[in-house]
Amino acid sequence: MFHTRDTLKINKKGHLEIGGADCVDIVKQFGTPLYVFDEAYIRRVMRIYRDTIQSEYDGRGLVLYASKAFSCEAIYAIANQEKIGVDVVSGGELYTAQKAAFPAQRIVMHGNNKLPYEIAEALDYGVGLIVVDAHSEADLLEREAEKRGMIQDVMIRINPGVEAHTHAYVQTATPDSKFGFSVANGAAEEITAYVLSKPHLRLKGYHCHIGSQIFEKQSFVLAVQKNLAFMAEMKAKLGFEAEALNMGGGFGIWYAEGDPMIDMNGYADYLRALLTTIKDGCRTLGLNFPFVYLEPGRSIVGEAGITLYTVGAIKEIPGIRKYVAVDGGMFDNPRYALYQSKYTAVLVNRAAEQPTELVGIAGKCCESGDLIGIDFNLPAVKTGDILAVLSTGAYNYSMASNYNRNLIPPAVLVKDGAAEYIVKPQSYEDLVRNDVIPERLK
Ligand SMILES: Cc1ncc(COP(=O)(O)O)c(C=O)c1O
Repeated sequence: MFHTRDTLKINKKGHLEIGGADCVDIVKQFGTPLYVFDEAYIRRVMRIYRDTIQSEYDGRGLVLYASKAFSCEAIYAIANQEKIGVDVVSGGELYTAQKAAFPAQRIVMHGNNKLPYEIAEALDYGVGLIVVDAHSEADLLEREAEKRGMIQDVMIRINPGVEAHTHAYVQTATPDSKFGFSVANGAAEEITAYVLSKPHLRLKGYHCHIGSQIFEKQSFVLAVQKNLAFMAEMKAKLGFEAEALNMGGGFGIWYAEGDPMIDMNGYADYLRALLTTIKDGCRTLGLNFPFVYLEPGRSIVGEAGITLYTVGAIKEIPGIRKYVAVDGGMFDNPRYALYQSKYTAVLVNRAAEQPTELVGIAGKCCESGDLIGIDFNLPAVKTGDILAVLSTGAYNYSMASNYNRNLIPPAVLVKDGAAEYIVKPQSYEDLVRNDVIPERLK
């Protein structure tokens, strides 16, 4: 079965519901393929993070929704209403936040290679914090801040030497990563001194992000301890005491059988463990409690979203597998093609029926690897059935493409049982909008 998280249920008609809306009715209204998000779910997780910082840390922190997980104007509007911040990683995400009138001071900008125009746009909008991830970036920021006669608050992304995976973590001396500066090889100390030497940059502290889809609480605890030890070292060596610490994102969600089904309040437990470690560590090391940032993405929108598809061609390869093809695929969800990610599918219009067969769900792209997965337990699926793929709220729409000139599906937001567009359907005209035929080819 699936993890309902209070958002999904099977109603009296035997149909799948999300946020109180019958998915069969949603499909009648909006068609497929379609991303569907439950607003109540998104708000609940945002509040859990926000309120835990309030109750456990006197509000001395800010939850930043990592908008790379799902970026569109409506999600920034919701984050703003919930009085949390957002993290953006590109000029495009910043522009979208800006279009939604998201307050600049609650925006943190990331990226391992921020482009000159992205930095200029961030400074012009007044982005609260920029996370430095290269010397050249510190130089560029310094120049652009000086040009504008301003001092920009920045953090440095460090690699504390903890790499976390779903159920395990490893401690690495010098991580092989394009992100951050290693503590172990002295790079983090060197860039600290470098940034401190820049008169138009104000170094607020450090950022780290140890991985994604993590369930192992101890990996976060260890990363905090390593960060604090580094902060104490910088205080002793350079006389610089960080005022802020950003612990990144990474909390895991339920995708399929085998994944832990943690209660939503489990996210509060993770955060509580982090905050307790920070307080204990600071007391031991003689540091002031830093302002804390956290950047959850997947855990806020991942399980809040599903994708609805209509089943088309069905192909049985005797002795091998039955493939059920849907009207979507890697152009709306490339995660199986990229990482063999696991998902759960539900037959929306006959959701109460027992599974009778194991099928692969194929997309419609001209690519053998275009699959949603290969082992879904479902009742006998027929052409015309509606399938829901669960936990697609994060890193699906944001990773979608127009591959094969397929249209990226629209997205709807469900509130109190009613759905409305937050991303409208693309048209063929959108596909050719920027195409040009040079005169000589006509
Ligand atoms: C710097 C940073 N912060 C936050 C996140 C969000 O992580 P998650 O969606 O796993 O919470 C990511 C994801 O890659 C990241 O790179």
